[in-house]
Parts: sequence; structure tokens; C-alpha cells
Amino acid sequence: MELYDFGIVGLGVMGRNLLLNMADNKFAVAGLDLDAAKVESLENEINDTHQVKATTQVAEFTQAIRKPRAIMLLVPAGKPVDGAINSLLPHLEEGDIIIDGGNSYFPDTDRRFLELSQKNIHFFGMGISGGEKGARFGPSLMPGGDKGAYERLRPIFEAVSAKVNGEPCVAYLGNGSAGNYVKMVHNGIEYGIMQLIAETYDLMKRGFGIDDEKIQQTFVQWNNTELQSFLVEITGEILNKFDEDGQRLVNVISDWAKSKGTGKWTSQNAMDLQAPVPVIDAAVTMRDMSKFKPERVQAAKKLNWTPAEKNIDEDQVIGQLKDAFYFAMLNTYAQGLAQLTIASETYNYGLNLEEVAKIWRGGCIIRAAALEDFRQAYSRDASLRNILLDDTIAKDISSRQANTREIVKQAVEHGIPFAAYMNALAYFDSYRSERMPTNIIQAQRDYFGAHTYERIDREGSFHTQWD
Ligand code: 6PG
Repeated sequence: MELYDFGIVGLGVMGRNLLLNMADNKFAVAGLDLDAAKVESLENEINDTHQVKATTQVAEFTQAIRKPRAIMLLVPAGKPVDGAINSLLPHLEEGDIIIDGGNSYFPDTDRRFLELSQKNIHFFGMGISGGEKGARFGPSLMPGGDKGAYERLRPIFEAVSAKVNGEPCVAYLGNGSAGNYVKMVHNGIEYGIMQLIAETYDLMKRGFGIDDEKIQQTFVQWNNTELQSFLVEITGEILNKFDEDGQRLVNVISDWAKSKGTGKWTSQNAMDLQAPVPVIDAAVTMRDMSKFKPERVQAAKKLNWTPAEKNIDEDQVIGQLKDAFYFAMLNTYAQGLAQLTIASETYNYGLNLEEVAKIWRGGCIIRAAALEDFRQAYSRDASLRNILLDDTIAKDISSRQANTREIVKQAVEHGIPFAAYMNALAYFDSYRSERMPTNIIQAQRDYFGAHTYERIDREGSFHTQWD
């Protein structure tokens, strides 16, 4: 009976594709889904070389898996994860391993780890990135938590993950909920870069009046440069998709976007940790703004701005935009990676940022040529607090600031909402300010609330009778 190396619960898009990826790699995999249609759809995709079993019955599923069992959950985050664990538990034995492969909120992972360790069930959270194609042909995997349990399954994960220069895009990341935390920040960076791309498109189209064809070609060309990245690449493809009426599909897609919450969690937790991630904050805010469609329609008639007529040299502004996008993108990674540094200290994750950069180079949504530069920066200095402090990156990013400032000015003049870009520049300018204007904040707090202040020329806390 116990023929199968691994079990997957949840045969939706991610579960089905990861299972088939494992089966391609010659692992025998059992799948469970309560929905018979999903079981059937998996069965239709299995070929003769696959050793796969799919069922709707929990007992049949758990009996089929070799002991100690290894079972991965690929169900929506939140209650479905607890529901799946509870339905499995009566059929499991001490020493079995449960892996949560969803986008779970990291405190839930810590709680589940404690609950399950009391039952001697190993548990760890593992972020998975790459969407449907990634799951099928090579995702980036971000495991954390129970190291012994991960080590047992390492050969499976290394086999199915994406590879860059022959190196697997999976590594044990750290203690507790480290895997889910790193995936959460990955998604926050994903939100930030997506928003930057949307703003880039908006400035080209509405601001500069560049035609769709040229915008599309710009993204395609950028993807052959140091801007090479999955999100730039797919934007080029998205802009080249035409619907049955012959119009560019993107022009008839509505402008309000949904979200499942991982970007918001990144911002919320960054605020808790006092780890500023303003590009991600802006991205979350702009998705929220997008939902105010009826109000925006009203406001568009009342809150007018007519930009001054100006001739632009398209090739020149596209060249400036390229620098500005790269500048803002590097700032976004810098913010997310700095958040990971602070989180690792706060939650005792023991993260190795070089490993994080390494496994993000392939398979995941934020994969980009720049990740190799970040990996090298951490390999030069493992204790780097912020990649902007790396000499090579500092030089590169600084050389692009003049064009970034010019592009931000252009966006302001054209009335294009440029929140992510502006926040990238504000982050950069505050980070490089030896003296910030926060002396005024200190004085104001002391003025109205007697909160006291510190001085730069004397030790201690001071209070002044200001009025
Ligand atoms: C990935 C993606 C994936 C998913 C997000 C989308 O890494 O493969 O991030 O996890 O597409 O959940 O998130 P939103 O629905 O919040 O945009």
C-alpha cells in the first residue's frame, strides 16, 4: 500500500502542477482533493511514466504514502490550512511531516508549528513562487522552520525547483516561520515592481503620448539589458496581446486590481518592525485607490490639471525612463531586503541574505538579472545592512539619479500619479541624508506634549518651555 514518496493536498492550479513536476522527476506522488472534478482533471494529465495516485478520500491518501509521511498542503491561506491539517491528523502518526506550501500569514505558521510539535508531527512553511508555470516546470522554493524535516525532503525540492547555472532555487532559509516571511516580502517586492511598471507605462502613454507599439517595444528591449526580469518580460508580452476585435487586450481591461493580501501584510509588518518599505506601501495604496472607480470618475471632472504643451524627444525620455526604472527597482529590492535583515533579528530567523538573493534568481515572480548583483554584494559582506551601502550598487544607483529626478519632474508636470517612483526617490534621498529634518519633529513633540528631546552637543533628555 505505502508506495508513494510524497503527498499533496489541494489539486488546484499550484497543487496539480507541482505534483506533475514531482512526477516528471520520477517521484511517486499521491494527491488529495475533496473535489472529484479536480481529481479527474489531474488524472487526465498523467502519462505512462508518472507514478501518481489521486483520490478524494483522506484515509486512502494517507495509507498510500510511505512512512514517515511527507504531505504538502497547497490550499488557500487561512482557515483552509487549519481545516486540511485537522482532517489529516486522525490519519497521521508521530514523525510524519506536514509542509504548508501556501502564502500563509507567518504568525499562523508559528502557531501551527507549536500545535503540531505537541503531537510530534513535524511542520514547516515553504513559500512557493512562480505561479502555474513555475510550479509545473521549476518554482523558487523558500522553506524555513523544522530543518531536520526539510533535510529529509531536500532531494525532492532540489529536483523540482528552478535552476540557475545548475544551482537549485531552493535553500533552507531559517528558523520558525522564516520561509513564509521571506515569501511575504517577496510578494511585497512583487507589488512594488508591478506598480513601478504600471507607472512607467502610464507616463509613456498618458504623459508623453507615446504609441502602444513603441511602449511595447520598449519593454521588450529593456528585457535584453540590465533591466532583464520576469515582470518586464511579461509586460512586453501583455502589451502585445490582441483580442478577437484586433485591439490590444490591455486597453479593454478594467483599471481596478484585486489582491490577496500579502503586499498589505508586508507593509503592515514593516511598520511594526519600523523597517521602511515606502515603494511597497505605495503599491498597496495604489491598488486600493484603483478600487475607488466611481469617485475617480467624478473627481476626474472636478479636479483638473492641464499640463503645459511641450515637445518631447521620445527616444531621449525613454532613455531617461530606463535609468529611472532601474533606480526605483533597485530601491524596491533594497527596502524588502532591509526588511528581511531587521525581521531576521527580531524573529531570530537566522536568515542568510545571500541565499535569499540566490534562490530568487530563478523560478520566482521577482527574478531579475539584478538578483545576481545582490547575491554578490552579500557575498562581499554578509553583514550588509542595506544593498545601497554596497560600493558597486551605490555607484550604479547614484549614476542614475539625475535621470530619475528628471523623470519624476516630468510625471509631476504631466499630472501622472507616480507614487512608487516618488517613494523610491524619497527613500533614497532620506537614506543618504546625514541630517534629516526630524529635529523639527522632536521639537514639536516637546512643544505640545513635553515628550523631551535629545541634543547633538550634550548627553541626556531635555525639555524646553517653548511658549
Ligand atoms: C508568486 C505570486 C503568487 C500569487 C500572489 C498574487 O510568487 O507566485 O506572488 O503568490 O500570484 O498571491 O498576489 P495578489 O493576489 O495579492 O496580487
